[in-house]
Amino acid sequence: MSEKDVIRIPSAGPSITQAEIDLVSQAIKDGWGPKMSYYIDEFTEEFSNYIGYKYCLPTSHCTDAIHLAMLTLNLKPDDEVIVPDMTWVASAAPVIYVGAKPVLVDVDSNSWCITAKEIEKSITKKTKAVVVVDLLGNMPEWDEIIKICKKNDLFIIEDASEGIGARYKGKLAGTFGDISLFSFNATKLIMSGQGGMLCTNNQELYKSAKLMSHHGMDKPQDGKGKYYWSDVLGYNYGWTNIQAALALAQLRRINELLDYKKWLFNKYREGLASVPNLKLSPSTPNVDHTYWITTAILKDYGIKKEDFKVMLDKYNIDMRPLFYPLSDMPPFKNYVKGNMRETNPVTYDLSDFGICLPNGNNLSNENVEYICHHFKKALGVS
Ligand SMILES: Cc1ncc(COP(=O)(O)O)c(C=O)c1O
Repeated sequence: MSEKDVIRIPSAGPSITQAEIDLVSQAIKDGWGPKMSYYIDEFTEEFSNYIGYKYCLPTSHCTDAIHLAMLTLNLKPDDEVIVPDMTWVASAAPVIYVGAKPVLVDVDSNSWCITAKEIEKSITKKTKAVVVVDLLGNMPEWDEIIKICKKNDLFIIEDASEGIGARYKGKLAGTFGDISLFSFNATKLIMSGQGGMLCTNNQELYKSAKLMSHHGMDKPQDGKGKYYWSDVLGYNYGWTNIQAALALAQLRRINELLDYKKWLFNKYREGLASVPNLKLSPSTPNVDHTYWITTAILKDYGIKKEDFKVMLDKYNIDMRPLFYPLSDMPPFKNYVKGNMRETNPVTYDLSDFGICLPNGNNLSNENVEYICHHFKKALGVS
């Protein structure tokens, strides 16, 4: 494939088959009136069976689900929630929405995830919860994290948005939190354009989140009671049948999509094998990584992620930089003290040189070969 023939290779993209088209078309035709929540209910039930949590609440975005999770904790202004510094902004922003303080801690240089040691170091009398992120398809050392959280009576919010399908000691991502959260935005392993899910085995938490997800309104039982009555101030975080139909078709293909991600990672590993000292997504002993996004660290080449992105743009490849440390960005500056590059060195190091390879679920063999060829060309390796 020559550079001229290439249509821009996007950083992410879904795999859409006839199954998605059929189910979404069906939902457009009949997902109204008596079936106004049919596909939402179907998806919720199948997702609950997949994850094995009793209560699942679909939301418009995972960010909303994280917000609801924070609201259910009834945090006070001085309360602290520990969050890894290396994650997508939505893992931490809802802590601030509810007026509490995010405490941003470093990640492990092997897994790139939060560790029990970092959590323990940061616990104060005000710590109420920890957001544990299954980053980029990998997972942390969960046994140690659970032990430290139990010992200190800390609530675990598992942000499994990027980890769906991964396993720690055989147990699925999203089954470790008191509340676990998922995202189905367009970049995710299974997607509905936008969408999220809050899962828990705690009925009270579920009921509270559900009430707030729809303006604090509960439907009258058996037609008796008040319609459109807000018991508490809430939000409008529901989603649509059409999104749910898309997510349902994708969920039914999850094993195929997981196999695809492994294929893609292995293609990148083979295609870039001749690049000396290139670090790709880490694998840790107890985890079955999904490689949701294959990531490369360019530190040994001294090339900053922003510069590499521009180099690959020339070849019509959209290569996205790894996240910035949350502690480096303006909304979080009021919550950090001192030199965070010294406090969280692993996060800053990964962020400076981390680059995400195109990770669409629809890349062809030819696309991957083209990407690897130009990746090597940009590094001056043949
Ligand atoms: C780790 C993590 N948490 C939360 C989110 C938020 O998901 P959403 O876009 O559905 O709000 C994302 C999405 O990119 C994510 O990667």
